[in-house]
Amino acid sequence: MGNQPLDELDRALDQAAMWLKLAERVCVLTGAGISAESGIPTFRASDGLWEGHRIEDVASPDGFRRDPGLVWSFYNARRANVRKAKPNPGHLALVEMEKRWGTKFCLVTQNVDSLHFEAGSRNVLELHGSLRRTRCLGCFTIQDRELEPLGDSPQCPHCRGSLRPDIVWFGEGLPEAVLDAAMQAAYDCDAFLVVGTSAVVYPAASLVPIAKRGKAVPAKVIEVNLTETDASSYADVGLYGPSGQILPKLVKKLDETGS
Ligand code: APR
Repeated sequence: MGNQPLDELDRALDQAAMWLKLAERVCVLTGAGISAESGIPTFRASDGLWEGHRIEDVASPDGFRRDPGLVWSFYNARRANVRKAKPNPGHLALVEMEKRWGTKFCLVTQNVDSLHFEAGSRNVLELHGSLRRTRCLGCFTIQDRELEPLGDSPQCPHCRGSLRPDIVWFGEGLPEAVLDAAMQAAYDCDAFLVVGTSAVVYPAASLVPIAKRGKAVPAKVIEVNLTETDASSYADVGLYGPSGQILPKLVKKLDETGS
């Protein structure tokens, strides 16, 4: 499925804006698609990030044990790519939405690129960690190293232990407090936006049914994506096109219809 015909998209935007306007609490789940227009490859595209690497080699604890140098060169390349990237109008539209709902707006992201923070979003839950942070395997200290180059075998400045990226790899659990807060936000919200994710990786993808089944009155689910996804069957309305174009249009509709 490609972009929607313009009149259909306009009607869907009106519907989504109306539901958002009625919502007291809003929760958003973003995935790699929101950063695609910032030049960061998605995972499951044909030019996806894993190309040339088996996932288990670069994104699993076993892979790191086998060859930490390979893993670090992979993550240093990702860090360098993010360093060049800037938030796009999709990220900025979500900042505008947070201003409207304040603390009743929760942005949950699967992305590790920190572009939501760079755009100015505040209430952000990073489910899968951050490329900016390292974790020491010796003393467990987590540090924000921003996006400075770290070399192929970085050591902890405190204990000289080996550092790993503070990223949730395949087969690992999500940070418990972050996941709990995300599930609560999905449960509590009246409108749930699911943006730029294929919705195939759990438990992140389970936030969509949680929003839908959470309360007596289920949240309205609004999907923003280039195509339909595994989340589409839960969506009350789909806005199909690039999120860097769709989200600013949605914010404009909200402004037109007042708050
Ligand atoms: N606008 C909106 N959606 C887009 C855009 C765009 N410009 N470009 C791509 N998309 C959509 C794709 O159609 C796809 O549905 O973004 C989605 C990207 O899906 P994935 O590559 O699977 O990324 P994501 O869902 O974030 O992956 C989840 O998988 O490997 C892990 O930990 C990694 O956090 C990641 C998780």
